[in-house]
Amino acid sequence: MEVVIVPDSAAGGELIAEAMADLLRRKPDALLGVATGSTPLPVYQALAAKVRAGQVDASGARVCQLDEYVGLPAGHPESYRSVVLREVVEPLGLDREAFMGPDGTAEDVPAACRTYDRALAEAGGVDLQLLGIGTDGHIGFNEPCSSLASRTRIKTLTEQTRVDNARFFDGDIEQVPHHVITQGIGTILEARHLVLLATGEAKADAVALAVEGPLSALVPASALQLHPHATVVVDEAAASRLKLGDYFRATYAAKPQWQGL
Ligand code: PGA
Repeated sequence: MEVVIVPDSAAGGELIAEAMADLLRRKPDALLGVATGSTPLPVYQALAAKVRAGQVDASGARVCQLDEYVGLPAGHPESYRSVVLREVVEPLGLDREAFMGPDGTAEDVPAACRTYDRALAEAGGVDLQLLGIGTDGHIGFNEPCSSLASRTRIKTLTEQTRVDNARFFDGDIEQVPHHVITQGIGTILEARHLVLLATGEAKADAVALAVEGPLSALVPASALQLHPHATVVVDEAAASRLKLGDYFRATYAAKPQWQGL
């Protein structure tokens, strides 16, 4: 995997937005897998700015969701469907038809999961999947000990993740759902390019374990080690526990520009 150490989250956002723009120039109807949470917001802001500046035409882009809470009422502002529509689909000027996500309100959750996996495959697969990382090493909502071969399915959040996400629910952990639908690790690994963005000191341990630790279901993000085209973009704080930080810096500094991410 490639590790790129950037000065701050804005630089990470710009780098990944440019990779998405490049993809859209090559493949105007690319399927972009997007993540939620605080970390990816600079990516979406930078990509929307490129669209407004006429640097890329995103009108044919398609967007798909990584995960979703189970049981939040339709239209709840913190459902990930609402978040992705608000933070990605609308700023890019896309129609709702360009967007796909799992149905967190479904009565039959396993059927909704199967439907979503099928829809992703029928859409031709994800071209670039943006990922965050949890402080517990999760990707999507694949919590520690998720099967590395898992498909989209229901999961139970760890207490740590519910504490981390309470800030989106007025700081009240009781409002954070226990259950979620998440693309499985096996599903995520089918995307053609995985790009994980992590910023801040709180992610430093999880990043070091994912990048330099053993491949382990205990650290779901370590599954990126299995992918032939995985890019990890980290700011200095999130990179601070990497043993190979200097090597990663030197490698990226010497990288030919034409390679892109
Ligand atoms: P965050 O979430 O970007 O809000 O820290 C990341 C994640 O849980 O995947």
